[in-house]
Amino acid sequence: MIAQVNDIAMAYSDTGEGSPVVLLVHGFVLNRSMWDPQLGSLKAAGARVVAPDLRGFGASEGGPPGALTMGQHARDLAVLLDVVGVAEPVVYVGLSMGGYIGFEFWRRSPERVRAFVLADTRATADSVEHRAWRLAMAAEAEAVGSSQPAIEGMLPRFFSPTLRPGSPVALAGRRMVAGTSARGLADGHRGMAERVDSLFLLPLITVPTLVVVGEHDILTPPADAEQIAAGVPGAKLVNIDQAGHLPNMENPDAFNDALLEFLGEV
Ligand code: MLT
Repeated sequence: MIAQVNDIAMAYSDTGEGSPVVLLVHGFVLNRSMWDPQLGSLKAAGARVVAPDLRGFGASEGGPPGALTMGQHARDLAVLLDVVGVAEPVVYVGLSMGGYIGFEFWRRSPERVRAFVLADTRATADSVEHRAWRLAMAAEAEAVGSSQPAIEGMLPRFFSPTLRPGSPVALAGRRMVAGTSARGLADGHRGMAERVDSLFLLPLITVPTLVVVGEHDILTPPADAEQIAAGVPGAKLVNIDQAGHLPNMENPDAFNDALLEFLGEV
């Protein structure tokens, strides 16, 4: 489905009619299809699931050129919820960049969040070196005119070392990265490079929170998840084995078990 959200046409899916409403927010260079392995379980649990392609990714428009900031994404999510008629607070599920956006969403609209699932993400801003690397990747993507730099620089780090390169999960990851435009890649990196530190925010998160991380995640390692779980009052931490940065794809059974158990509690 397509909705007019702020100044862009945003692609999204909206399935189920029940409660809670679960908002699934994908990671960088990916799109909403990364959540496919969760849809069946969430439907069976009676949830309504809203899953957008963020601005610049998947089938959504990118809007005017420039950094895709976490604030812009958070504004888009709030408007999308209005457009699809979700007034009740949502269970916000964000992975990696989806988690960075979650912190911004909380800053702006805490009343719209019923609970958080923060997967394979971090609360800190980028280091100076990481910011410089992002800006170099952005320039390279623009120079070559494709997301090839991410296929070479990021994709190999998404999954655990034991995942076969030709497996369906690896191929699905590759399709998403390859389907991202040079602009989405460049402006996405620039937006993440601008994001602020959210460590101070953690003690102020007052909703039930589940922190999830793949045991082999090298992009946002388990120490980052431990830091979030230690900072958010009452947060629960679940490690997913046999998984890297995308445990919802690599070990969906374990991820879905943790997600559904948490939904049952909230
Ligand atoms: C993601 O999966 O969203 C990215 O790894 C986030 C990042 O580059 O920091």
